[in-house]
Amino acid sequence: MIPVITIDGPSGTGKGTIAHLLSNRLGWHCLDSGALYRVLGLTAQRLGVELDDADAVAALAVRLKVTFAADRVLLDGEDVTDAIRTEQAGMAASRVAAHPSARAALLAWQRARACPPGLVADGRDMGTVVFPHAPLKVFLDASPEERAKRRYKQLKEKGLDANLPNLIVDIRERDTRDRSRQVAPLRAAGDAVVLDSTTLSVDEVLDRVLKEVRRVFPELVP
Ligand code: DC
Repeated sequence: MIPVITIDGPSGTGKGTIAHLLSNRLGWHCLDSGALYRVLGLTAQRLGVELDDADAVAALAVRLKVTFAADRVLLDGEDVTDAIRTEQAGMAASRVAAHPSARAALLAWQRARACPPGLVADGRDMGTVVFPHAPLKVFLDASPEERAKRRYKQLKEKGLDANLPNLIVDIRERDTRDRSRQVAPLRAAGDAVVLDSTTLSVDEVLDRVLKEVRRVFPELVP
C-alpha cells in the first residue's frame, strides 16, 4: 500500500501551498488535481466546446494528455502552467468538474499518481472519492472574505488587475457550484481532520498538519 495524505478544501485556503511544502518535506509526490480540471476547462474553451455539454467534455477528458513535470503543467507538451491560473480558467474548471462522466474519466489517472514513497494529493474529493482509504485526510477551510483577500494579494503581486468585491462574489459562486454538484461535491470526509486557516499563517497551518502526520506516520517526521 502506497501511503497517501489528502488535503481537500475550497480554493484560497492555501491547500496547494501546504500540499507542496508537505510533499517536499516528506520527499513524496504531489498531485494538484485542480490543475487537471483547469487543463480540461482550458482545452474545452480553446476548442469551443460548450462547458455545460457533459458528453463533449467527457470525450475531451478521456483524450486529455497532461504531464506534471517539476512545477510545470504540460498539455500535449505545451507549457500551460500560467494559462490555467487565470480566474477564467478557474471558473471553467469548476464548470467542467461538475460532469460525473468527466470526473470518472480522470479517476484512473489521478490514482496512478500514487507512487512510492508516497503521495500528497490536493483537491476537493481526494479524501472522499479518489483516495477514500488514505490514512490521513485533512480538510482546510477559511472564510470566503479571507480567501478572496489572499487571491487579491496574489494577483496584485503578479501585477494583474484585481477587484476584491468581485473576487468575493466569484469565490462564493465557485463554492456553491463545487459544494452542490451531484457527484463528488466539496465536503470533508467523515474521517478528515478539519482545519480552519482563516487566522493562521502558512507556517502555523503546516505545523498543525505536521502534527497530524506525526500522529499517523510516527516514523516519517522527527
Ligand atoms: O483547486 P483549484 O482552484 O485549482 O480547482 C479548480 C476547480 O476544479 C475547482 O473550482 C473545482 C474543481 N476541482 C474539483 O472538482 N475536484 C478536484 N479534486 C479539484 C478541483
